[in-house]
Amino acid sequence: MTVARPIRLGINIDHVATVRNARGGEHPCPVRAALAAMEAGADGITAHLREDRRHIKDRDMERLRAEVPLPLNMEMAMTEEMLSLALRIKPHAVCLVPEKREEVTTEGGLDAVKLEAKLLPYVDKLQQNGSRVSLFIAPSEAQVQAAKRIGARVIELHTGAYAEYCLNPTQAGEAQTELAHLTAAAHLANSLGLETHAGHGLTFANVAPIARLPGVMELNIGHFLIGEAIFTGLGEAIRTMRRHIEAA
Ligand code: PXP
Repeated sequence: MTVARPIRLGINIDHVATVRNARGGEHPCPVRAALAAMEAGADGITAHLREDRRHIKDRDMERLRAEVPLPLNMEMAMTEEMLSLALRIKPHAVCLVPEKREEVTTEGGLDAVKLEAKLLPYVDKLQQNGSRVSLFIAPSEAQVQAAKRIGARVIELHTGAYAEYCLNPTQAGEAQTELAHLTAAAHLANSLGLETHAGHGLTFANVAPIARLPGVMELNIGHFLIGEAIFTGLGEAIRTMRRHIEAA
Protein backbone atom coordinates (compact mmCIF):
# COMPACT_ATOMS: atom_id res chain seq x y z
CA MET A 1 0.00 0.00 0.00
CA THR A 2 1.37 3.46 -0.85
CA VAL A 3 0.86 6.13 1.77
CA ALA A 4 -0.12 9.59 0.51
CA ARG A 5 2.75 12.00 0.96
CA PRO A 6 1.59 15.16 2.70
CA ILE A 7 2.73 18.34 0.95
CA ARG A 8 4.20 20.94 3.27
CA LEU A 9 2.46 24.29 3.20
CA GLY A 10 4.65 27.34 3.76
CA ILE A 11 2.85 30.59 4.42
CA ASN A 12 4.44 33.76 3.10
CA ILE A 13 3.61 36.58 5.53
CA ASP A 14 5.26 39.47 3.61
CA HIS A 15 2.00 41.25 2.97
CA VAL A 16 1.07 41.41 6.63
CA ALA A 17 4.14 43.66 6.83
CA THR A 18 2.95 45.56 3.73
CA VAL A 19 -0.26 46.52 5.57
CA ARG A 20 1.65 47.34 8.76
CA ASN A 21 4.10 49.55 6.89
CA ALA A 22 1.26 51.50 5.27
CA ARG A 23 0.91 53.25 8.65
CA GLY A 24 4.43 52.80 9.91
CA GLY A 25 3.44 51.27 13.27
CA GLU A 26 3.47 47.78 14.71
CA HIS A 27 0.06 46.51 13.59
CA PRO A 28 -0.62 44.03 12.05
CA CYS A 29 2.42 42.14 13.30
CA PRO A 30 3.99 39.51 10.97
CA VAL A 31 5.13 37.44 13.97
CA ARG A 32 1.56 37.25 15.25
CA ALA A 33 0.45 36.24 11.74
CA ALA A 34 3.11 33.52 11.67
CA LEU A 35 1.90 32.18 15.02
CA ALA A 36 -1.70 32.23 13.75
CA ALA A 37 -0.56 30.37 10.61
CA MET A 38 1.10 27.76 12.80
CA GLU A 39 -2.08 27.41 14.83
CA ALA A 40 -3.97 26.79 11.55
CA GLY A 41 -1.56 24.01 10.58
CA ALA A 42 1.09 25.73 8.45
CA ASP A 43 4.29 23.72 8.14
CA GLY A 44 6.60 26.65 7.65
CA ILE A 45 6.86 30.42 7.40
CA THR A 46 8.31 32.18 4.39
CA ALA A 47 9.41 35.81 4.35
CA HIS A 48 11.26 37.85 1.73
CA LEU A 49 13.70 40.41 3.05
CA ARG A 50 13.87 42.67 0.02
CA GLU A 51 16.78 45.03 -0.50
CA ASP A 52 14.44 48.02 -0.25
CA ARG A 53 12.73 46.59 2.90
CA ARG A 54 9.34 47.44 1.43
CA HIS A 55 7.59 44.88 3.63
CA ILE A 56 9.64 42.57 5.87
CA LYS A 57 12.35 44.35 7.89
CA ASP A 58 15.51 42.92 9.42
CA ARG A 59 13.93 42.91 12.88
CA ASP A 60 10.93 40.90 11.57
CA MET A 61 13.28 38.25 10.23
CA GLU A 62 15.14 38.08 13.54
CA ARG A 63 11.90 37.83 15.50
CA LEU A 64 10.41 35.19 13.16
CA ARG A 65 13.53 33.10 13.70
CA ALA A 66 13.54 33.56 17.48
CA GLU A 67 9.83 33.49 18.33
CA VAL A 68 8.12 31.19 15.84
CA PRO A 69 8.73 27.47 16.35
CA LEU A 70 8.26 26.60 12.67
CA PRO A 71 10.95 26.26 10.01
CA LEU A 72 11.72 29.71 8.58
CA ASN A 73 12.32 30.03 4.85
CA MET A 74 14.13 33.30 4.10
CA GLU A 75 13.77 34.51 0.54
CA MET A 76 16.57 36.80 -0.52
CA ALA A 77 18.46 38.23 -3.43
CA MET A 78 22.03 37.24 -4.07
CA THR A 79 23.81 40.19 -2.47
CA GLU A 80 26.64 40.37 0.05
CA GLU A 81 24.38 42.23 2.50
CA MET A 82 21.70 39.52 2.39
CA LEU A 83 24.30 36.79 2.60
CA SER A 84 25.77 38.16 5.81
CA LEU A 85 22.28 38.61 7.31
CA ALA A 86 21.32 35.04 6.43
CA LEU A 87 24.58 33.71 7.82
CA ARG A 88 23.83 35.50 11.09
CA ILE A 89 20.08 34.67 11.30
CA LYS A 90 20.61 31.04 10.24
CA PRO A 91 17.11 30.34 8.89
CA HIS A 92 16.09 26.74 8.34
CA ALA A 93 16.00 27.43 4.60
CA VAL A 94 17.08 30.12 2.18
CA CYS A 95 15.41 30.58 -1.17
CA LEU A 96 17.53 32.61 -3.58
CA VAL A 97 15.35 34.79 -5.78
CA PRO A 98 16.00 37.42 -8.43
CA GLU A 99 15.12 40.92 -7.36
CA LYS A 100 14.53 44.13 -9.25
CA ARG A 101 13.70 47.28 -7.35
CA GLU A 102 11.04 48.42 -9.80
CA GLU A 103 9.11 45.11 -9.80
CA VAL A 104 5.86 44.70 -7.86
CA THR A 105 6.68 41.10 -6.99
CA THR A 106 9.28 38.49 -7.96
CA GLU A 107 8.60 38.52 -11.67
CA GLY A 108 10.71 35.72 -13.05
CA GLY A 109 12.95 32.91 -11.95
CA LEU A 110 16.60 33.16 -11.12
CA ASP A 111 18.73 32.58 -14.21
CA ALA A 112 20.77 29.78 -12.67
CA VAL A 113 22.43 29.05 -16.03
CA LYS A 114 23.79 32.57 -16.46
CA LEU A 115 24.55 33.06 -12.76
CA GLU A 116 26.09 29.64 -12.14
CA ALA A 117 29.56 30.90 -11.17
CA LYS A 118 28.14 33.60 -8.90
CA LEU A 119 25.59 31.29 -7.26
CA LEU A 120 28.06 28.56 -6.37
CA PRO A 121 29.79 30.30 -3.42
CA TYR A 122 26.46 31.65 -2.07
CA VAL A 123 24.88 28.22 -2.05
CA ASP A 124 27.99 26.69 -0.56
CA LYS A 125 28.33 29.23 2.28
CA LEU A 126 24.65 29.08 3.19
CA GLN A 127 24.58 25.29 3.17
CA GLN A 128 27.79 25.12 5.21
CA ASN A 129 26.05 27.41 7.69
CA GLY A 130 23.18 24.92 8.08
CA SER A 131 20.46 26.42 5.86
CA ARG A 132 18.83 24.35 3.12
CA VAL A 133 19.15 26.33 -0.07
CA SER A 134 16.60 26.39 -2.83
CA LEU A 135 16.79 28.23 -6.13
CA PHE A 136 13.62 29.89 -7.39
CA ILE A 137 13.71 28.99 -11.08
CA ALA A 138 11.51 28.87 -14.14
CA PRO A 139 10.42 25.37 -15.13
CA SER A 140 13.04 24.67 -17.77
CA GLU A 141 15.37 21.72 -18.14
CA ALA A 142 18.43 23.97 -18.41
CA GLN A 143 17.57 25.73 -15.13
CA VAL A 144 17.04 22.46 -13.24
CA GLN A 145 20.32 21.05 -14.58
CA ALA A 146 22.14 24.22 -13.54
CA ALA A 147 20.64 24.02 -10.02
CA LYS A 148 22.00 20.50 -9.74
CA ARG A 149 25.48 21.52 -10.95
CA ILE A 150 25.50 24.42 -8.47
CA GLY A 151 24.86 21.99 -5.61
CA ALA A 152 21.49 23.28 -4.38
CA ARG A 153 19.47 20.52 -2.72
CA VAL A 154 16.12 22.10 -3.48
CA ILE A 155 14.47 23.96 -6.34
CA GLU A 156 11.33 26.05 -6.12
CA LEU A 157 9.51 26.13 -9.42
CA HIS A 158 8.06 29.53 -10.32
CA THR A 159 4.33 29.07 -10.89
CA GLY A 160 3.71 32.76 -11.67
CA ALA A 161 3.28 32.36 -15.43
CA TYR A 162 0.91 29.41 -14.93
CA ALA A 163 -1.10 31.46 -12.39
CA GLU A 164 -1.33 34.43 -14.76
CA TYR A 165 -2.64 32.24 -17.59
CA CYS A 166 -5.20 30.71 -15.22
CA LEU A 167 -6.70 34.16 -14.66
CA ASN A 168 -7.71 34.47 -18.29
CA PRO A 169 -10.13 31.87 -19.72
CA THR A 170 -8.83 32.57 -23.24
CA GLN A 171 -5.39 31.39 -22.12
CA ALA A 172 -6.37 27.92 -20.92
CA GLY A 173 -4.11 26.41 -23.59
CA GLU A 174 -1.10 28.44 -22.40
CA ALA A 175 -1.87 27.38 -18.80
CA GLN A 176 -1.78 23.73 -19.89
CA THR A 177 1.51 24.25 -21.75
CA GLU A 178 3.05 25.89 -18.69
CA LEU A 179 1.77 23.03 -16.53
CA ALA A 180 3.50 20.61 -18.90
CA HIS A 181 6.77 22.56 -18.42
CA LEU A 182 6.30 22.44 -14.63
CA THR A 183 5.62 18.70 -14.77
CA ALA A 184 8.69 18.01 -16.91
CA ALA A 185 10.88 20.16 -14.64
CA ALA A 186 9.59 18.33 -11.54
CA HIS A 187 10.27 14.95 -13.17
CA LEU A 188 13.80 15.99 -14.03
CA ALA A 189 14.41 17.34 -10.51
CA ASN A 190 13.22 14.03 -9.05
CA SER A 191 15.53 12.07 -11.30
CA LEU A 192 18.47 14.28 -10.27
CA GLY A 193 17.67 13.88 -6.56
CA LEU A 194 16.59 17.49 -6.08
CA GLU A 195 13.68 18.26 -3.76
CA THR A 196 10.93 20.18 -5.55
CA HIS A 197 8.93 23.08 -4.15
CA ALA A 198 6.60 25.41 -6.03
CA GLY A 199 5.03 28.79 -5.53
CA HIS A 200 3.88 32.20 -6.72
CA GLY A 201 0.38 33.31 -7.55
CA LEU A 202 -1.30 30.21 -6.13
CA THR A 203 -4.98 30.41 -5.17
CA PHE A 204 -7.79 28.02 -4.19
CA ALA A 205 -8.73 27.89 -7.89
CA ASN A 206 -5.34 27.04 -9.39
CA VAL A 207 -3.50 25.09 -6.68
CA ALA A 208 -4.75 21.55 -7.43
CA PRO A 209 -2.65 20.84 -10.57
CA ILE A 210 0.41 22.25 -8.80
CA ALA A 211 -0.19 20.00 -5.79
CA ARG A 212 -0.23 17.09 -8.27
CA LEU A 213 3.22 17.88 -9.74
CA PRO A 214 5.35 14.75 -9.48
CA GLY A 215 7.19 14.59 -6.17
CA VAL A 216 6.38 18.15 -5.13
CA MET A 217 7.17 18.46 -1.42
CA GLU A 218 6.28 22.03 -0.50
CA LEU A 219 4.12 24.90 -1.69
CA ASN A 220 4.79 28.48 -0.62
CA ILE A 221 1.74 30.71 -0.74
CA GLY A 222 1.32 34.30 0.39
CA HIS A 223 -0.53 37.11 -1.32
CA PHE A 224 -3.79 35.28 -2.01
CA LEU A 225 -4.05 33.91 1.54
CA ILE A 226 -3.30 37.22 3.22
CA GLY A 227 -5.95 38.83 1.00
CA GLU A 228 -8.44 36.07 1.73
CA ALA A 229 -7.77 36.50 5.45
CA ILE A 230 -9.52 39.88 5.25
CA PHE A 231 -12.76 38.03 4.51
CA THR A 232 -12.48 34.77 6.44
CA GLY A 233 -9.58 35.16 8.84
CA LEU A 234 -6.10 33.75 8.26
CA GLY A 235 -6.77 30.43 9.97
CA GLU A 236 -9.79 29.65 7.82
CA ALA A 237 -7.98 30.72 4.64
CA ILE A 238 -5.08 28.39 5.44
CA ARG A 239 -7.34 25.47 6.39
CA THR A 240 -9.30 25.88 3.15
CA MET A 241 -6.07 25.96 1.13
CA ARG A 242 -4.94 22.81 2.90
CA ARG A 243 -8.21 21.09 1.95
CA HIS A 244 -7.71 22.04 -1.71
CA ILE A 245 -4.17 20.65 -1.63
CA GLU A 246 -5.23 17.42 0.08
CA ALA A 247 -8.17 16.94 -2.29
CA ALA A 248 -5.75 17.17 -5.22
N1 PXP B 1 7.79 31.63 -3.52
C1 PXP B 1 8.68 32.61 -3.81
C2 PXP B 1 10.10 32.22 -4.09
C3 PXP B 1 8.29 33.97 -3.84
O1 PXP B 1 9.17 34.92 -4.15
C4 PXP B 1 6.95 34.29 -3.51
C5 PXP B 1 6.53 35.72 -3.47
O2 PXP B 1 7.25 36.42 -2.54
C6 PXP B 1 6.07 33.24 -3.19
C7 PXP B 1 6.52 31.92 -3.23
C8 PXP B 1 4.65 33.50 -2.81
O3 PXP B 1 3.97 34.08 -3.89
P1 PXP B 1 2.51 34.64 -3.67
O4 PXP B 1 2.64 35.76 -2.67
O5 PXP B 1 2.10 35.11 -5.02
O6 PXP B 1 1.68 33.52 -3.13
